[in-house]
Amino acid sequence: MQIDHHARLSVAPMMDWTDRNCRAFHRVLSRKTLLYTEMVVSAALVRGGARHLLTFDAAEHPVALQLGGSDPAELAEAARIGAGEGYDEINLNCGCPSDRVQSGTFGAVLMKDPQRVADCLAAMQAAAGPVEVTVKCRIGVDDQDPARVLPDFLTHVRDAGIRRVSVHARKAWLQGLSPKENRDVPPLDYDLVIEMLRAFPDLHLSVNGGIGTLDEAAAFLDRGLHGVMVGRAAYQRPADILLEADRRVFGAANPCADAVEAAQAMRPHIARHLEGGGRLDQVTRHMLGLFAGRPGARLWRRLLSEGAHRPGAGLDVYDDALAAVTQALETETQPGDEAMGEGSTAGGVPSRPVPTS
Ligand SMILES: Cc1cc2nc3c(=O)[nH]c(=O)nc-3n(C[C@H](O)[C@H](O)[C@H](O)COP(=O)(O)O)c2cc1C
Repeated sequence: MQIDHHARLSVAPMMDWTDRNCRAFHRVLSRKTLLYTEMVVSAALVRGGARHLLTFDAAEHPVALQLGGSDPAELAEAARIGAGEGYDEINLNCGCPSDRVQSGTFGAVLMKDPQRVADCLAAMQAAAGPVEVTVKCRIGVDDQDPARVLPDFLTHVRDAGIRRVSVHARKAWLQGLSPKENRDVPPLDYDLVIEMLRAFPDLHLSVNGGIGTLDEAAAFLDRGLHGVMVGRAAYQRPADILLEADRRVFGAANPCADAVEAAQAMRPHIARHLEGGGRLDQVTRHMLGLFAGRPGARLWRRLLSEGAHRPGAGLDVYDDALAAVTQALETETQPGDEAMGEGSTAGGVPSRPVPTS
């Protein structure tokens, strides 16, 4: 698999969001985009026996497993398990600032200890065999100077034999900001990431943070970046980012002509999920933003939010919502169907609190 090629566009790892059902949905919209799992804590895998967290469907390829941890031996074992499960890439999280993650000494706090990161990555790569190990990082934390810290971090990563890095182009504040604020408040510094292209010509660099449209993604690729990683926009407005991605980013045919076709293409997955004893809303909660910005968006969100969590809700609820939105699209009479934002209670954002960033 030419994973570098797929990494031209990726959907970021997002706890509570990019689970199997979400990835199945994103894969219906784009065959080419690289997808990431939620972060899986290495201790849960190695010591907690949480192997079930790794289950995925062959249709999800290319798919990368993100690990969180800071112990080289434990991460190596987790990487070995992940590679054995068939993941196309194993990624180390060095960007997550939440309290829970800091207490385990991993995530963004690792930006302060690049030698430990290098040790972890080298051990992971030795254990993962042919499966590529990568890293996702910030440009620094707290009062670090990103212009000094990022090149130093990348030097350690490269010297550990790692080639592909995704950089969330803002600092994280380990104290005082919530995980959500840490995704918005520290200013973005895309130019610093672009400068790293010259300093590290042997690295494959993806930029992440605040990228909201395919046009913006394409502009970064035009500026020489090897990849663009999109998080919230891909989740909240999946059709805007992924529906056209295969044609525009990869020069391939788009799998679906429009959002209605994508919704129809999800029926077999939903049917299998229900037959396996799953609930309808476990799939549809990731699909609430499918029609964002299009006529019928509110209706779709409302019908699915209200109907899909009811006990026994089946494909009829889904089909009714799809019929209603199809009709609204045909008549185009729905005013005020704006794209939703993070935190919107009616939107594609789960109402449950999000545990980490
Ligand atoms: C709900 C949510 C959960 C997240 N969980 C993770 C995670 O598990 N691992 C990680 O590296 N980043 C995580 N992030 C951060 C994203 O991967 C990404 O770096 C960040 O949202 C910035 O990209 P964006 O502006 O395109 O959303 C999460 C973000 C969100 C919104």
